[in-house]
Amino acid sequence: MDQVHIPVMINEVVEYLRPEKDKIYVDATIGAGGHSEALLNLGARVIGIEQDREILELTRQRLERFGDRVIFVNDNFKRLPQILEEHNIIEVAGILYDLGLSTFQIDSERGFSFQRDCPLDMRMDGNLELTAKNLVNEYHENELSRIIRDYGEERWARGIARSIVRNRPLDTTFHLVEAIRRGIPRGARYPKIHYATRTFQAIRIAVNDELEVLDASLSTAISKLTEGGRIVVISFHSLEDRITKWSFLQEAKEERLRIITRKPIIPQESEIRSNPASRSAKLRAAERICQNYLSPE
Ligand SMILES: C[S@@+](CC[C@H](N)C(=O)[O-])C[C@H]1O[C@@H](n2cnc3c(N)ncnc32)[C@H](O)[C@@H]1O
Repeated sequence: MDQVHIPVMINEVVEYLRPEKDKIYVDATIGAGGHSEALLNLGARVIGIEQDREILELTRQRLERFGDRVIFVNDNFKRLPQILEEHNIIEVAGILYDLGLSTFQIDSERGFSFQRDCPLDMRMDGNLELTAKNLVNEYHENELSRIIRDYGEERWARGIARSIVRNRPLDTTFHLVEAIRRGIPRGARYPKIHYATRTFQAIRIAVNDELEVLDASLSTAISKLTEGGRIVVISFHSLEDRITKWSFLQEAKEERLRIITRKPIIPQESEIRSNPASRSAKLRAAERICQNYLSPE
C-alpha cells in the first residue's frame, strides 16, 4: 500500500468494543486492517469483511502473523448473517463498522478524488455493474439532481445536474469537476470544502448503494450479537450518522439494544491535528440486551 490508512479513533473503538481474548468480533469494513490489528493484539478473534478485493489481499498479507485468529471475507457486509452462517458462527461479541473510503481507495486510479484526473469509476467493489461514468452519462437530469441533493446535501443540485447533462460525455474526474463548476452560480460560497466535494460524495454513495446497504445491515447485524455484545459504528457524514442513530433508537425501543453513547463521540483535537481525515468522524456505540425475558403473566 502506498500510504497505509490511519485507523480513526482507535482508542475509542477499543474502549467501546472492549475486546476480550478468544472472543469473536466482526470487522465489517476491515480495509487496511488497523482496527482489526488492535483487536487481534488484544487476543481477540476477527472476521474481517471487505468488498474491495485489492485492499483485502494486501491486508491479508499484512495481518498474516495472526494466523487462524483472523478470517478474511471478500464480500459486502450486507451479507453478514450469511457470512457467519457459512463459518458456523451463531453469535459474536462485537461488531465494528468504520464506514466510507480507505486512503488506499482515495489514492487509487478509480476516480474517488476530485483532485486527481482519473476515469470515472468510484466502485468499491469492482464487480458492481454501475460505474460513476454510466451514472453521469446515462441518468436522467431529474434523477441526477435527486441523487446530488439527497446524497450530497448539495444546495445547487439542480444546476449541477443540468450542467452535467449539457457537458456530456464525461469520461474523467476532471470533466466532472468542470461540469460541476459550470453548474454552480458564480460567487456561490463553499466555506471549508471544495465545490466538488458534495457531488462526488453523492455519486459515490449512489454507485455503491451505501445508505440502503447500511440501513439494511445494521438491524440484522445487531441480531447476531451475543447478550452484552457491542456494536460500534464510525460514520463520516450526517446521512450515515442519521441512519445509525435511528437504527439504534429503533432497536432500543424494541428492547434489543442499550445505547451507550447518547451523543456521538468525536475525535480528540490531537487526533484531528495528526490525521485531518478523521475530522468528520462520529462514533456511536450500543450494547445488546437480552430480549428473552419472561413477561409477567
Ligand atoms: C474507512 S475504511 C476502513 C478502514 C479500516 N478500519 C482500517 O483500520 O484500515 C472503509 C472500508 O470499508 C469498505 N466498505 C465500505 N462499504 C462496505 C460494504 N458495504 N461491505 C464491505 N466493505 C465495505 C471499503 O471498501 C473500505 O475499505
